[in-house]
Amino acid sequence: MNDVLPDVVGLWQFLEQSARDVFGTYGFTEIRTPVLEKTELFSRSIGETTDIVEKEMYTFTDKSGNSMTLRPEGTAPVMRSIIQSRLAAQDAVAKLYYIGPMFRYERPQKGRYRQFHQIGAEAIGVEDPKIDAQVLLMLHHFFNRIGISAVSLEINSLGCPVCRPDYRRQLIQYLEQRLEALCSECQRRYQTNPLRVLDCKVEGCRAATVAAPAMIDQLCDDCDQHFSQVRRYLDLLKVPYALNVRMVRGLDYYVRTTFELVTDQLGSQNAVAAGGRYDGLIESLGGPALPGIGFAIGLERLVLMLDKEAVSVTVPELFIAVLGDAAAERAFVLMSQLQARGVRTEMDFQGKSLKAQMRRADKLGAVHTLIVGDEELRSGQAQLKKMADGTQTSVRLDALLEILT
Ligand code: HAM
Repeated sequence: MNDVLPDVVGLWQFLEQSARDVFGTYGFTEIRTPVLEKTELFSRSIGETTDIVEKEMYTFTDKSGNSMTLRPEGTAPVMRSIIQSRLAAQDAVAKLYYIGPMFRYERPQKGRYRQFHQIGAEAIGVEDPKIDAQVLLMLHHFFNRIGISAVSLEINSLGCPVCRPDYRRQLIQYLEQRLEALCSECQRRYQTNPLRVLDCKVEGCRAATVAAPAMIDQLCDDCDQHFSQVRRYLDLLKVPYALNVRMVRGLDYYVRTTFELVTDQLGSQNAVAAGGRYDGLIESLGGPALPGIGFAIGLERLVLMLDKEAVSVTVPELFIAVLGDAAAERAFVLMSQLQARGVRTEMDFQGKSLKAQMRRADKLGAVHTLIVGDEELRSGQAQLKKMADGTQTSVRLDALLEILT
């Protein structure tokens, strides 16, 4: 779990603001849900046999004996909220986004943390493949906006309750014949969660599954048509993508379109964003039978990919250096007036020498400095210095507000 320190917080704010701007243009509004939910919400939606539910949740019993969990992801809580607030009764189509911390007890490494942050978006109520394409276009647009191009979109279809059970049986049969080649984890889970074996990073498992049957070849007519349409619309919208028929997701609620935005810049944590369709989820949680599709972006991973220097940090517009107590008092009042008018202004509070004050102004990257001493107080005039080129202009202290605002 990390602190976000002042030297990088500007990057976080830039990413969050960019998401708000871009998602807003597509008609998404923000939703905020608690970080704590009943454990059952996650085990029912993400799936009992997933890594997240089996090993990674921060779960505890509260004082009333309820099992509670720090949210490991944002989709299930948003669906819970939609059901509880009867949002769908007012409008069957909801487009929502969220920004906030998620918690998974994973083995920490670069790009993988126990508290991490997601920017997520969910579009509920539309089955039309146009919405799949639009959600992916929005993701693409967001990455363009923040200036990250070293990512590629991979898509797949995971079928639906009509076609997946058959495929699942075929896959189990295929794996059964190669059990000795699989790692112990996959030997344990190949019956309960065979699709995860396709995602295993262990070399033996990779080799053993090269010729494994692919879901995409077993789609029912409806899923096949839906996926072709998604691809057609992506082409129309000029969203580049590659098909990855081995892609499975670590959460059980997905059906049909699934996707990941991957990069080779983050070592083994290569997904910067991921998502897909979850058409049966709301109903399985006790709500109306509404389809949905969405994604979540890992904020820490974006921060790792972005050049710190690329985003401007907050620098003071003016640093007032002072000589003597009377000047310090006048500068203090002047500074507060400027700040009230929105001018970022700084001064020294530690009684430092003029030289040390100028060094500080330099370090903070102040655009202008103003030196105020006894002489300036008497004449009411001071030298405003532009730090970039050293040029000085004589200004009246009582006109400073007008000059800088
Ligand atoms: P997910 O693939 O589990 O999907 O996570 C989405 C993204 O969150 C990942 O691609 C990654 O960037 C980031 N992430 C996940 N775990 C960590 C971690 N331990 N440390 C840092 N970053 C991490 C979901 O969570 C789904 N709820 C996405 C979704 C929304 N599907 C539909 N709607």
